[in-house]
Amino acid sequence: MARGELMKKLLASYGRDEEFRAVVEQIITDEEKKNNNVLARSLRKTLDNIGHTAAPQTAGLSRLLPFPDEAKEFIQRIDPRHTSQDIVLSHENLEQFVGLIQEFRQADRLKRHGLSVRSKLLFCGPPGTGKTLCAEAFAAELGLPLFHVRLDSLISSYLGETASNIRKTFEFARRQPCVLFFDEFDALARSRDESGEHNELRRVVNSLLIFIEQIAPSGFLIAATNLDRHLDPAIWRRFDEVVWFELPDAGMIRKYLAHAFKNTKIAFDPDAFIAELDGFSYADLEKVCIQALKLSILESSKQVSDTQFRAALRQAKRRRKREAQVES
Ligand SMILES: Nc1ncnc2c1ncn2[C@@H]1O[C@H](COP(=O)(O)OP(=O)(O)OP(=O)(O)O)[C@@H](O)[C@H]1O
Ligand SMILES: [Mg+2]
Repeated sequence: MARGELMKKLLASYGRDEEFRAVVEQIITDEEKKNNNVLARSLRKTLDNIGHTAAPQTAGLSRLLPFPDEAKEFIQRIDPRHTSQDIVLSHENLEQFVGLIQEFRQADRLKRHGLSVRSKLLFCGPPGTGKTLCAEAFAAELGLPLFHVRLDSLISSYLGETASNIRKTFEFARRQPCVLFFDEFDALARSRDESGEHNELRRVVNSLLIFIEQIAPSGFLIAATNLDRHLDPAIWRRFDEVVWFELPDAGMIRKYLAHAFKNTKIAFDPDAFIAELDGFSYADLEKVCIQALKLSILESSKQVSDTQFRAALRQAKRRRKREAQVES
């Protein structure tokens, strides 16, 4: 590959450790081919040294700050398994994410004008619409480490132990560029509702909200909930941006099916199923597609047939029906 192209790829891989390494490997191979062996060896040595000092995976090239020991009970580092390539996003959400990424990457320019970056995000929407997936992909896209906060444990640890746990967690997020992800944020709202006479719990929840309000994370704080309309305004207003995740409409179902079968031959017309898939979440759609693919493998078909897709869809419908019965 031309040197210019490799340089562009190298710059584009900034913050993504694995991609960065792959591009450097390409550069080394290129130099070896040109018999520039001294340079190639020296590049390899430099790359190996980076391997000993840089934090792994998405921490990119920056070192991770030591994590507060007390917080290990309720915070977990997640290595993102998904990237933006795995997500089917509506045009609106895509636009929102592109804007947020642009702000983050050019934070210094904004700060010079006295403006701050939107860094506290609330993801709302029904189950299986990609809230957790997007938090992962967002961290991966920005090359930031992702930390998952288990709110239920955090709240109870705070009750029984000391306020410093929460303070340390937020202090960590203020100093360490990362995505601090509060999944199932409804737990907080529920605790607030249920606290009733329980003054201690109410106090805990309220202080958590104050911490969220006051923090200016050096990365992002993302909270996800599927109880969108029940969250009270005191919670909404603490976030700089709310991202809505919807169940897929006909257009998005079509897009999802094309995405799911992009590397697989199919012998059916996906459009014929769109009406039947109405009301399915992306997670439901994923189950149908995977099941259809499994059937085609088990039946040694060269492509996913109409019958196989139909059988997978029948199974998913039965399951959804039972789940709906249990819920009601
Ligand atoms: N927009 C999407 N594009 C592609 N796949 C998706 C999308 N949304 C969800 N999925 C698939 O469904 C699975 C479940 O999604 P995810 O866990 O992100 O949902 P969620 O909105 O966080 O749900 P919950 O409210 O139950 O936590 C994902 O692992 C992914 O495989
Ligand atoms: Mg989730």
